Amino acid sequence: MDRNAAITGVGHFAPEKVLTNHDLEKMVDTSDEWIRTRTGIRERRILENGKGSSFMGGKAVEMILKEKNIDPEEIDMIVVATVTPDMMFPNTACLIQEQIGAKNAWAMDVNGACTGYIYALATAAQFVESGKYKKVLVIGSDKMTAITDYTDRNNCVLFGDAAAAVLLEPVEDDQYGILDFILKSNGKGKDQLYMLGGGSLNPASHETVDKKMHYLYQDGRSVFKFAVVGMADIAEEILVKNNLTGEDIAYFIPHQANFRIIDAAAKRLKLDSSKVVVNIDRYGNTTAATIPLGLSEVYHNNGLKKGDYILMSAFGAGFTWGSLLLRWAI
Ligand code: ACO
Repeated sequence: MDRNAAITGVGHFAPEKVLTNHDLEKMVDTSDEWIRTRTGIRERRILENGKGSSFMGGKAVEMILKEKNIDPEEIDMIVVATVTPDMMFPNTACLIQEQIGAKNAWAMDVNGACTGYIYALATAAQFVESGKYKKVLVIGSDKMTAITDYTDRNNCVLFGDAAAAVLLEPVEDDQYGILDFILKSNGKGKDQLYMLGGGSLNPASHETVDKKMHYLYQDGRSVFKFAVVGMADIAEEILVKNNLTGEDIAYFIPHQANFRIIDAAAKRLKLDSSKVVVNIDRYGNTTAATIPLGLSEVYHNNGLKKGDYILMSAFGAGFTWGSLLLRWAI
């Protein structure tokens, strides 16, 4: 019998501090009305100075370990999706390994921007399906406020900080767990969504700071056009490939970049709005954290039944995009 990787635990962490649209009205030339109608966002969470993405990721994992009563030494592998690592190296996964005391795990980061969580989940699943590892943590954590320019009204209203995580374990029944994924990239997107400074091409200097190269930049209008088509196409593609329709899906968990993008994808899949997980109003775009954060809220607030089909889809910098289909196994 074939083995699948299944999600058996979910946790999340959002910092307490809230930055509302009204707070932003005092910082840049914007309005609550503009932000709500163009993006769906009302507020976002802000992590305090002196803490990085590893702190939030570790907290999300602690929720899983506590709920499932698992000893951190049982963890075999940790994969972290992030575009805001605490530092260039060591990777954020190693920092979380140390923070939670998972001393038997090996740890690596994956950078797929807003699609990072789907890339990470698909990657980690291979190590479980192969039989190599039995307990794998997949974490999405981003402190987007660390790379946000709070004088740029085009971008600063969009992002927030959060982390969420899942535990993957083998399930000896290939009807359940992660059933399929489709992953895509197109490097032509490099000119529309990026952070130029701090890497090997433009190492940090007075000039890179003066030119604001350590902040995220995006040509929002153009990214929107790619995202609205890309996210809906790839969600539809995986359904067709698996002989399913929107009616079969219990929950659609899309990346949360803009409510209008989510709504367009949901309409294309003919999904009832009750099946579409939306929390962008409360958290904004938390990049690699949006999808597991949505899953964790559904799991803890609504509950999931064994056999529920869950569809995820995302679009982000690269460009990267992807979808993942799973059937709830516990
Ligand atoms: N408040 C008030 N006005 C604003 C603001 C603001 N915060 N920001 C922009 N405007 C103005 C613009 O200056 C523009 O004015 P103009 O017409 O006089 O030039 C007008 O509002 C419209 O601007 P647009 O950029 O056309 O607005 P749009 O409706 O496209 O919304 C947004 C902008 C929200 C950024 C949208 O384009 C979007 O969501 N893009 C996609 C984001 C995305 O999916 N990113 C990928 C993931 S991120 C990642 O991978 C890290």
